[in-house]
Amino acid sequence: MNWDSKINKERLPKHIAVIMDGNGRWAKLKGKPRVFGHKNGVKSVREISEASAELGIKYLTLYAFSTENWNRPKLEVTALMALLVETIRKEISTLNKNNIRLNAIGELSKLPGKSHKALVEAIEGTKTNDRMTLTLALNYSSRWELTHAAKQLAKDVKKGLINEEQIDEKVFNSYLSTNNIPDPELMIRTSGEKRVSNYLLWQMAYTEFCFLDVFWPDFNREHLYKALVDFQSRERRFGKTSEQLTN
Ligand code: IPE
Ligand code: IPE
Ligand code: MG
Repeated sequence: MNWDSKINKERLPKHIAVIMDGNGRWAKLKGKPRVFGHKNGVKSVREISEASAELGIKYLTLYAFSTENWNRPKLEVTALMALLVETIRKEISTLNKNNIRLNAIGELSKLPGKSHKALVEAIEGTKTNDRMTLTLALNYSSRWELTHAAKQLAKDVKKGLINEEQIDEKVFNSYLSTNNIPDPELMIRTSGEKRVSNYLLWQMAYTEFCFLDVFWPDFNREHLYKALVDFQSRERRFGKTSEQLTN
């Protein structure tokens, strides 16, 4: 089946969010350490980024490291951070070649110095690219983001920059790290787990979810195409009735 040909290019989501899950289980099945899975997950990142940009997706957001992931064994966390630095450094030229801009959300200042530096350099080095924005959620959790936004907003109220009456959804949204990015229309999670794991809770209020039974290192562009075909078969009602949408 050639899934690519089944996609309606006029009805693509602007923003796809992904939970890249299953690296550890993929490695375990092969009798390898978990880190082997993370290393092999990098090529899936490359593939989904290129395929999305080629299709004309404007925003792709990948969950790379959650706030909760610090609770993993120290060796794994260290290896993940090292992989991050290595990958980002290696990929800058490809990102530029593909005209992709790198962005990051999460509590970035708490990342190890080296990882933070590599990230900032890559963001700076790709900032004029405009084909697609690739956002990495790093040391990210939605509850952290919402709490942080509430704190910043409270500070601005205290300073008199905004008053309580002016706070609405649009204003609150502007305090989130995704303020320049539209909400994702589609969220894909690999590995068979069916949960959101503290990811973009505010932003995914009306997102369509697609849970795939494939481990992240095995994810390829055909899986993306299939998810898009599935997405396009759904009726997004936003609280209305089906009849209202067709009239
Ligand atoms: C996703 O794969 C990568 C990260 C969370 C960093 P996992 O490492 O969660 O793999 P599983 O879910 O344990 O198989
Ligand atoms: C979510 O995956 C975070 C990332 C993909 C970075 P986890 O593997 O950490 O999620 P849980 O713990 O299974 O919910
Ligand atoms: Mg996991």
